[in-house]
Amino acid sequence: MKGLELTGMEQNRTVRRRIKRGEGENNPYGSKSFLNANRIVLDATYLFDSPGKGAIKKGDLEALIPEIMKADRMLKDNQGDIFDNGIPMTGWLDLPVTIPVEHIKEIISVTKELGRETDAFVSLGIGGSYLGIEATFRALTHTFFNRLSRDERGAPEIYFLGNNLDPDCFRDTLDMLEGKRVAVNVISKSGTTTETAVAFRIIEKLLEESWPDKAQDLILVTTDKEKGALRSLAGKKGYRTFVVPDDIGGRFSVLSDVGLVGLAMANIDIEEFIAGFARMREIALNDDFWKNPCLVHAAARHAAWTKGKKIEVVATNSVHLYPVARWMEQLFPESEGHEGHGMWVAPALYSEKLHANGQMVQDGERNIFETFLYLKEHENGIDIPATADDLDGLNFLPEKGIDMNFLNRKVIKGPAYAHYKGGVPNITIEIPRRNAFNLGQLYYMMERSVAISGYLMGHNPFVQPGVEAYKKAMFAMIGKPGYEEIAQDMKEDIKEIEKVRV
Ligand code: PA5
Repeated sequence: MKGLELTGMEQNRTVRRRIKRGEGENNPYGSKSFLNANRIVLDATYLFDSPGKGAIKKGDLEALIPEIMKADRMLKDNQGDIFDNGIPMTGWLDLPVTIPVEHIKEIISVTKELGRETDAFVSLGIGGSYLGIEATFRALTHTFFNRLSRDERGAPEIYFLGNNLDPDCFRDTLDMLEGKRVAVNVISKSGTTTETAVAFRIIEKLLEESWPDKAQDLILVTTDKEKGALRSLAGKKGYRTFVVPDDIGGRFSVLSDVGLVGLAMANIDIEEFIAGFARMREIALNDDFWKNPCLVHAAARHAAWTKGKKIEVVATNSVHLYPVARWMEQLFPESEGHEGHGMWVAPALYSEKLHANGQMVQDGERNIFETFLYLKEHENGIDIPATADDLDGLNFLPEKGIDMNFLNRKVIKGPAYAHYKGGVPNITIEIPRRNAFNLGQLYYMMERSVAISGYLMGHNPFVQPGVEAYKKAMFAMIGKPGYEEIAQDMKEDIKEIEKVRV
């Protein structure tokens, strides 16, 4: 039997797709036509006056404007509860326009060279040292990137490790790496995160055993500029290093070396990515509330939260943008989940999830707010064929020229209306196309919005003592030296808790 033929299918446009830059010569992303075609829009049509409990009124947002404008000013002036260890954690605010061009060139040149010499690249990290990189990588590449030919990828295969402690998954990934020339970037600001550190030990050993004279050139280290375990190790072993800036926390770091090195390795256009961030930063400078999507986004979510909406479903019609919803699942709860505050972010891929917890969104407890990450235009159309007997009654689709792309758009438009009518206020973030420029804009908008949310909720959004608490408990439980006292206290405490096992 011969293999499947894709008769009548056009060539996949996702393969090694790179956006066509605008026509401006000096600033290729600055042309009017490019900006118009790549504009992120926040559609708040279904935000106000949803039926039932917890409806948001337009007046609720208007009433927040003075507080929001004040928060925005304080953010720009580095004022308020935004410090971590005495440092204002706002380095990401102007980063899009302050990254030195030379540094970008260096990243591109290092990754190009390393990419040429290797078959696979492993990014090690967790939380903010992982999610943004994977989200961007998945958003902008082929669903089965690693199965494409080297030529189609234009990059080594890309893998992620150190983001959990599942030994089976780790071992399976090693199977994929076996026999290949492998490079790695270990990313950890603190240098002591267990998941990343354990993964790095294993990979470093394998690299050293496979290439005793070359391992040093295959290992990149992204960490604090002067302190921490990884920084010392890199100094001792002579690894090439990149920096997690002091004034940028993990979940705000995708535009720093944390994200850029891995993305450049995957042959993603990081200059375009930076331009997207810069574009949204420019938009965010607008003091007119209704023209500034970062402010409106912050206000909409805050109003929803104060009206009793405790869950934010972030739903998308794009498999590629689903990991971006997962990035938001970190950004917002880790920043807002303090002192009894915050909305739980639940990423969802529609229409899959509409056949699961969609019932709950439509008709369950009315504590839900919804945000749609709506991809307006997919890369591929895919025509739906007519059948002779039309048993499923869908022949009208090809008859009317409706393709899969059109149907997929309704997977957002339909639920947006139905959920609104069911009492779920919602907003839609329109993303014109999957490109690095649009992702950059989206990330910056979300980062700015959550920073303002911290001021509105009255706590520091740039620290994560809750995450540190679990890290400490885990160190104590695994017997890490220095944690003996905590371990003893925990033991005593656990003894007091009644054991119930059924
Ligand atoms: O947003 C954050 O700060 C966290 O999610 C961290 O990125 C995560 O805990 C990993 O920390 P580190 O980079 O120190 O290994």
